[in-house]
Amino acid sequence: MKHFEFVNDKLIVLDQRKLPFEKEHFVCSTYQDAYVAIKDMIIRGAPLIGIVAAYGVVLGFKEIIEKNMESTKIYEIINYLASSRPTAVNLFWALERMKKIFEKARNLSQSQIYSVLLQEARKIEDEDKSINKKIGEHGNTLIKEGANILTHCNAGALATGGYGTALGVIREAHFTGKNIHVYVDETRPYLQGARLTAFELSEDGIPNTVICDNMAGYLMKLGKIDCVIVGADRIALNGDTANKIGTYSLSVLAKQHGIPFYIAAPVSTIDFNIKSGLEIPIEERSEDEIRFFNGKKIVPDESKVFNPAFDVTPAENITAIITDKGIIFPPFEENISKLKEK
Ligand code: MRU
Repeated sequence: MKHFEFVNDKLIVLDQRKLPFEKEHFVCSTYQDAYVAIKDMIIRGAPLIGIVAAYGVVLGFKEIIEKNMESTKIYEIINYLASSRPTAVNLFWALERMKKIFEKARNLSQSQIYSVLLQEARKIEDEDKSINKKIGEHGNTLIKEGANILTHCNAGALATGGYGTALGVIREAHFTGKNIHVYVDETRPYLQGARLTAFELSEDGIPNTVICDNMAGYLMKLGKIDCVIVGADRIALNGDTANKIGTYSLSVLAKQHGIPFYIAAPVSTIDFNIKSGLEIPIEERSEDEIRFFNGKKIVPDESKVFNPAFDVTPAENITAIITDKGIIFPPFEENISKLKEK
């Protein structure tokens, strides 16, 4: 099975908390299940969060029909889904799209509205796959033969509708025969790199080496990294980019060593409403994600724990932003604004 699928009025997702060694599925029969899937990171990654939220709206409307409720109850459901995670703007982008399509269809019968919402969610999913292929093709023009690429977190097929953003570029470089090799940051505390990115790359036969997050600087100093490519959760108009915690530190290291630092993301990850990264809400997650490792307590009870899930990389540390509509170079403010009109 794919990593998610909407069948028989249910959204079935691969439980990413269990990967790579257990392949269990989580079934979302209700919009509350979709909320849990996002909040508890059963699924994760900005574009996939948006897709699952869109299907969550479909599940919500199913309940409206079954319980004979007013169609406008959908607004409450949309707001509820929007409260699942705060940082990835794709969540709000997808929900806004579903809201608009509902408003266009609201005079139809409830079963017709359901079909329209389902069609839109499928469209968001399908578009995301082709968008990632385009990101891959654009980004590949930046990758040199035999490059050693460092990536952080998981911006792959598992984080999207398929193919991936940062991993889309990496896949494209690999499948066009560039003989690349990927260094994968393990990405504490959720280990998206070690568990998910290494798994995806290995399944596709892409040579990869997992490193602990704190090893990146040493590798750069040794001249072993040619470029860094990461995904994004939200990009501000000035190019400031929120991504998985640790991305900012990597960008500083890359700058220090004169290594190109690329962001790969769909245009739906750009928040055209915010001027800079200062306006991006950073999610703080449970202390237990750090306090425990593999179910075992590793931090003394007396110690406090701080667990921000994202950080913001300032635009000046970013060499280019690779999108489905082309590669954006500085000055970002000017060039990102132009994208809105495209
Ligand atoms: O907390 P997560 O796993 O949802 O964070 C994911 C990331 O930071 C990804 O790099 C980002 O969403 C881009 S996914 C194509």
